[in-house]
Amino acid sequence: CFFTSTSSNEFLDCISQTISSDVVFTPNDTSYSTVLQSTIQNLRFDTPTTPKPSAIITPLSYSHVQSTLICGFEFGLNVRVRSGGHDYEGLSYTSSYHSTPFILLDLNLLRSVTVDPDTNTAWVESGATLGELAYWVARKSNLLGFPTGECTSVGVGGQLSGGGFGTLARKYGLSADNVIDALVVDVKGRILDRDRMGEDLFWAIRGGGGGSFGVVLSWRISLVYVPPVVTVFSVSKSLDQSGTGIVNKWQNIAHNITEDLFMNLLITPAVQGQNSTMLVTVNSLFLGTADELINVISDEFPELGLQENDCMEMSWIESVVYHSLYLRGQSIEALIERQPWPKDYYKFKSDYIKKPIPEEALANIWKWCLQENLILAMEPHGGKMSAINETATPYPHREGNLYIIQYIMRWGTDEGLNATETHVASIRRVYEKMTPYVSKKPREAYVNFRDLDLGTNGNASGTSYVQALRWGRRYFKGNFEKLALVKGMVDPTNFFRNEQSIPPLVLSH
Ligand code: FDA
Repeated sequence: CFFTSTSSNEFLDCISQTISSDVVFTPNDTSYSTVLQSTIQNLRFDTPTTPKPSAIITPLSYSHVQSTLICGFEFGLNVRVRSGGHDYEGLSYTSSYHSTPFILLDLNLLRSVTVDPDTNTAWVESGATLGELAYWVARKSNLLGFPTGECTSVGVGGQLSGGGFGTLARKYGLSADNVIDALVVDVKGRILDRDRMGEDLFWAIRGGGGGSFGVVLSWRISLVYVPPVVTVFSVSKSLDQSGTGIVNKWQNIAHNITEDLFMNLLITPAVQGQNSTMLVTVNSLFLGTADELINVISDEFPELGLQENDCMEMSWIESVVYHSLYLRGQSIEALIERQPWPKDYYKFKSDYIKKPIPEEALANIWKWCLQENLILAMEPHGGKMSAINETATPYPHREGNLYIIQYIMRWGTDEGLNATETHVASIRRVYEKMTPYVSKKPREAYVNFRDLDLGTNGNASGTSYVQALRWGRRYFKGNFEKLALVKGMVDPTNFFRNEQSIPPLVLSH
């Protein structure tokens, strides 16, 4: 299912003036499918009927990005930008706008990381993965780190555009909170740094979600201090081993315990003997030694029963491998090998929790998850996340949030695409039943956990601010209006658009 048209051919003529054909792939090229599929994570969007780009450009230089945007604009094509390809809804490489052909601008080869240990800063290109970023920072100094995410195959471009939450968030905030400059190619094909783009656009690109404002080529980030020794643990309890009590206590302490301690929960359906149960796993990063950690846990969370032999001391970069579950057990070099996260079919949703869910209600939630075979991941907020004002960046879920829940529905190739309807219906049922326990008015969601169930822009040209408020307030609360105003200033014709991009709002005087 390719989009081809006269405008696509004119576009190809236009870029052939400045871009070598080696980095342009059309459906006639034998490597087109390999390039397209290279970083597709969600197999729901890798099927014969998934709409595919008329051409893929894999820029080797910033001028290639500029030419692609200038030609795309001239011939009315929709340009989708891809860094790591982890978008939950495939918005970086497919399109539901059947009347408009689209081009894929794949930044995979723009991935340098340049660390300056004198200023504790780095420039990182959007096509780098979070693993590559962490690796090259740690190679310069074992006392420097960066708040990335837990999955190291995620792209820097998408992660920083939407916020970026990980194990250092309670100590240092989101990835986007630590960005101090950027290079963006705007709708006119100009490269703008922070000074040239101005503070409003610089604000919008740090959490307003990818694909709306321009193409971010590179980010200047402020590196953070990490101690030479950190400690990790992973402790699992079934419901019989007081799993519910652990979750209950965690809800009350994980957000206000010392900022040096990050503990998330992964709650998965499991079979024990003849019985089904939920397995509660507490995964942790502590910025200090095992002795110090055991003291904190015995004071604040004795119910966990943490033992010395549950704890492993290591360097921060080793902890990055440990927390990227698919790499656990490998050497730190695995971070630069670009091993893909295991691909499967999935649908995710998110919620924010402001009051602990009553213990009695947890029992019902386990029942629903067992019935629907749904995984829950819970990530604590508090600490630095609460200290940052909710208008400082577009990410508004700050003070007052105890944690974010991610609902995870994954299935494999054995069931395949045909099982989509059944599994999507399952996750929606649990989401619906969770209504009494989660944030309200609006029911908040995290833009990097992209969820088109919240609403879409409709067709390519008909993006309306009022229509978009429905989903926009849920990702951005009061910041949505400012995002739309910035969009109105920098891209009034809505060239950078997708099913959930920020619509332009232009106030008439
Ligand atoms: P992708 O390339 O698909 O881009 C995502 C969006 O950003 C698209 O709309 C795209 O057009 C746009 N975009 C990409 N590059 C751009 C650029 N250079 N300029 C402008 N727009 C650009 N999140 C988190 O906070 N913490 C976590 O621990 C995890 N873990 C995780 C694990 C797994 C397995 C997945 C699939 C996802 C996550 N995420 C996450 C969510 C992740 O942060 C989110 O999907 C990011 O947008 C992915 O960034 P990529 O560059 O990989 O995606």
